Amino acid sequence: MRSIDELNPAGKRVLVRVDFNSPVDPATGRILGDKRIRGHTDTVRRLADSGAVVVLLSHQSRPGRADFTTLESHAERLSRVLGQDVEYVDGVFGSRVREAVESAEAGDVLLLENVRFYSEEYIEMDPEEAAETHEVRRLAPLFDAYVNDAFSAAHRSQPSLVGFPRRLPAYAGELMEREVDVLGSLDTAPDPLVLSLGGAKVEDALGVIENVAENGTADSLLLSGAVGNLFLTAQGVDMGEGTTDFLREEGFFDLVEDASELLEEQGDLLETPDDVAVEMEGERVEVSVGELPVD
Ligand code: 3PG
Repeated sequence: MRSIDELNPAGKRVLVRVDFNSPVDPATGRILGDKRIRGHTDTVRRLADSGAVVVLLSHQSRPGRADFTTLESHAERLSRVLGQDVEYVDGVFGSRVREAVESAEAGDVLLLENVRFYSEEYIEMDPEEAAETHEVRRLAPLFDAYVNDAFSAAHRSQPSLVGFPRRLPAYAGELMEREVDVLGSLDTAPDPLVLSLGGAKVEDALGVIENVAENGTADSLLLSGAVGNLFLTAQGVDMGEGTTDFLREEGFFDLVEDASELLEEQGDLLETPDDVAVEMEGERVEVSVGELPVD
């Protein structure tokens, strides 16, 4: 990994892949949490303060989802976080983008449109193939360097992540470096080691579990979030109507068999939740799994 420390950004146009994928209220488009946006502040600040033109590229959600939206509000939020104007450019590439990038001055920060609005971006492909996509071929010539700061999207082999390093000098941003350092520290982690795995990306989580099991990375894996819901369902726990509907809508029922197999094969490694939080009349109430289902 080439560090951003090796980049001399003054006078350069730098394309930065960030991950601004944030919780967004589908009804209002309001950003409900800006942790992801704040996470990139150090990299953006550093490049802008060193005299680069900083052009940010990100995705938001996935095609077909209610929060698959424009990044206009993300640009406003970033302006507030940075305390400087961030220009939102309504396009991923094309003449509007070219003009905006070419007319930008040292220290300017621009945010391009949701890169997944462009269908080629949402295909997983080899880096060589990604370097030949329209997106990469048309954007890369506008820049002197590429910085990948999108650790949380770096497991995707999509053009904005793997294509540009084939065409531009590429560097890891500050957030990327910090996250990789944390992962590296697992090599010398205490023994026994307990990992906690949650969130809503259930399919990805199954891959993580297989990997942890295969490599003996941890002694115990605590499952929570939607992942925990899936494994409780695989154990035959009736999660109640609301949760069951959610699992069905999200297509998680297709994964119940995989989860059951993992429970069978990796029973010693996996810990499912003992208790859960449920919403009752607008309040959070904690109940033990044995009490499910509740209204
Ligand atoms: C995430 O939130 O996990 C990242 O932004 C990646 O999003 P994706 O799973 O839709 O590729």
